[in-house]
Amino acid sequence: MKRIILIFILSISFLGFSQGNTHTQSGGKFEGLAMTPPMGWNSWNTFATNIDEKLVKETADIMVSSGMAAAGYNYIVLDDGWMTKERDANGDLVPDPVKFPNGMKAVIDYVHGKGLKFGLYNCAGTQTCAGYPGTRGYEYQDARFYAKLGIDFLKYDWCNTKGITAPEAYTTMSNALKTAGRPIVFSLCEWGDNQPWEWGKPIGNLWRISGDIYPCFDCEFKHPENWSSWGFMKIVEMRKDIRKYSGPDHWNDFDMMEVGNEMNDTEDKSHFSMWCMMASPLVAGNDFRKMSKETLAILTNKELIAVDQDKLGIQGFKYSAEDGLEVWVKPLSDGNWAVTFLNRSEVAKKISFDWKKHIIKDADFGYEADFNKTVFKLKDLWKNKEIGNTKKNFVSDLVAHDVITLRLIP
Ligand code: GLA
Repeated sequence: MKRIILIFILSISFLGFSQGNTHTQSGGKFEGLAMTPPMGWNSWNTFATNIDEKLVKETADIMVSSGMAAAGYNYIVLDDGWMTKERDANGDLVPDPVKFPNGMKAVIDYVHGKGLKFGLYNCAGTQTCAGYPGTRGYEYQDARFYAKLGIDFLKYDWCNTKGITAPEAYTTMSNALKTAGRPIVFSLCEWGDNQPWEWGKPIGNLWRISGDIYPCFDCEFKHPENWSSWGFMKIVEMRKDIRKYSGPDHWNDFDMMEVGNEMNDTEDKSHFSMWCMMASPLVAGNDFRKMSKETLAILTNKELIAVDQDKLGIQGFKYSAEDGLEVWVKPLSDGNWAVTFLNRSEVAKKISFDWKKHIIKDADFGYEADFNKTVFKLKDLWKNKEIGNTKKNFVSDLVAHDVITLRLIP
């Protein structure tokens, strides 16, 4: 009898123990951290590894004072190059004491003090892409390190990963973050090489879908080491067909933006429109300290941001393409639609779009706009102006690489 009671007590406590631990042992990402595409700033596109405390503080200051934060940008993410080349005697990562003389915690506290969030970068491999210590073999230790520092976002890259597979490596880190206990947005960055959209949803909040962006409209930039960076339209084109995998808390990430870098304002406008049409995370990659008022106006266009951040969270699609003139559409909540006319060609074009000749069907998500049944009001989101309705043809000129984005309101 005593034995039976003992077995009974042991099994009750075992059950209790295992139930109490299912949260940490079963893994799975922190749910609900990115119900709309994350917005913020990342250091890589402009600064590469030339980052330091001063840059972070100045960027945080301007994020608030310029109106970027009010427009929704809230993550400041330090990319590659924030550490020393070696771990310390305990195996911990070491923020570079020259770049961050007061330590990383002081920087993070400063950013948090501004009402913003903070992110860091590492790699699933033995080293980061720029040759700093990678996380392979240190997943749980690094996750505890990040939780203790108080970061809110981790970008996790894919260099130097010979011998490991992406779904497993990213699952391990996701579980490590969950176990460490601090809610941290987990940003997968394996460039779409292993179709992260097919397996990333339970473990991450967003995933890169391509190699690195390049500040051009539609070019391919070939690096001598045999890899390419891509103009923004190349990325959009490359991944326009995986839209059904993207949505609230599991986004296709079209990469950090190049708005304000090497393109002209027309191309920057098109770049921003397309990122919003794709429901991509909106992560600025320019130097805020040198930002022109035109760049700021593009990045903080509230109407466009509302298209990106729409609660349906649907990635748009290419409706038509004729002679270099493309029409992209995106279903929005309350029966609204966003429609973008994009001049992909090198010469000026005339648009004359007869709404009544088009029924727009979104087969992936089950939305339809039939302009014979419903009249929509039109709002030009770059001009911030109502421009009539869908009873009449939409007529406009469009210079090369330019864009018009409309909101259709039933
Ligand atoms: C990869 C990523 C970039 C950036 C660099 C840093 O190329 O795709 O976004 O993080 O590494 O080394």
